[in-house]
Amino acid sequence: MDKEVVNMGRVVASAPGKCILFGEHAVVYGQPAVAVAIEQRMIVEISTEDEISEWKLDGKEFDGSKHPHVQALRDRMWPKSVGATPLSVKIHGDIPAASGLGSSAALSVAACAALRAARGRWIRKNGDFSVPEDWAEGYHSSIEDTNSYADSENIRDSARRSGQNGVGHLHIFGQDSIDVEECSIVGHSIEAVAQGGRASPMDATTCAYGGIILLSDKLEPGVDWTGTRNLSTPNGDVSWEIHSVSAKSPDDLFLVIGHTGDYSSTAQQVKYVAELLEKDPLRMKEIEAIGHVARRGVDALLKGDYTAVGHAMKENQVLLSLLGVSSEKLDRLVEAANPSSLGAKLTGAGGGGCMIALTRNPKETSEAIELAGGRTWISKFNNKGLTLDAISDLPIWFPPGN
Ligand code: MEV
Repeated sequence: MDKEVVNMGRVVASAPGKCILFGEHAVVYGQPAVAVAIEQRMIVEISTEDEISEWKLDGKEFDGSKHPHVQALRDRMWPKSVGATPLSVKIHGDIPAASGLGSSAALSVAACAALRAARGRWIRKNGDFSVPEDWAEGYHSSIEDTNSYADSENIRDSARRSGQNGVGHLHIFGQDSIDVEECSIVGHSIEAVAQGGRASPMDATTCAYGGIILLSDKLEPGVDWTGTRNLSTPNGDVSWEIHSVSAKSPDDLFLVIGHTGDYSSTAQQVKYVAELLEKDPLRMKEIEAIGHVARRGVDALLKGDYTAVGHAMKENQVLLSLLGVSSEKLDRLVEAANPSSLGAKLTGAGGGGCMIALTRNPKETSEAIELAGGRTWISKFNNKGLTLDAISDLPIWFPPGN
């Protein structure tokens, strides 16, 4: 196939937001952390429109400098330099932005899946689409000859595999071409671009896989290992082992999310912590202390001891406050939630945004948070990850020359 094909296609994909039970900020430095997918989701629709000559985002001309996530994604998955056609992108959903709920990771993961479904994937002759070694292009933790983390200038053909597998013979598209691990890796690399090189894979992995995700500096027993992420950060190389926790959570257990009404930038909060540690390297002890609390929380979670899980959340909040990433409003909402819940803490980067409470009394906890000035959402545990929700007339485009 050496002819470009352009169809008038449409794809809709969605991914959940996340909240972090333990370990935010410390996880950027390789400490353990746990996050769960929430019910709230981001939905991304991509389509081609008649005579569209430039990318459009929500009906307006796309400006990459205002939307670094979409720009970085475009560089990796839909590069103009190899002839990809302009698209119209529409984003909606019920995850508030800049609030610690993973809205940008959910967007990146869902958009990565939509673009992959729309362009499809070349695989080796007689290959199996579910086996990454058989792919002729793409990103995966089990293949080493492509790199989603390459600088934007070098990203041009970074998805094309080298050697024998670099020549594709069979083209697949739609659901068969989507790979959750690929969307998780691409999502992480995009978070790293947007956060000045310092980003854990926590958000992207949880939004891609759904359920409960445990990140650790080592392989953990009793949970399913899904892959490794390595990132060169301004503070050195960091590596994370990613696990999916299949612990069945009780049906009477809920998360109440409370929004302060303030917004905060994850990139700035992460930078604040990095500067704090540069000025006073001894404060790394606080990062390690968060890691210890997270490890206790993980043990409690695996035992199904949710009283102890709540306790670890409370301790985690104290340490996050000491680090300086909480805020008066977050503290107020956490305090209001504590009497009716097992434990409460901020979630995500802090400085504003949301707190969460683990509770068996969602109504009571939610009312207490609202009385203290927060807006609330209730979410059950164990929500699904990335999904492809609609397709028509695919592929929209696929690269020539295979
Ligand atoms: C953001 O949801 C959580 C942080 O730990 C940043 C990261 O993990 O990249 C603050």
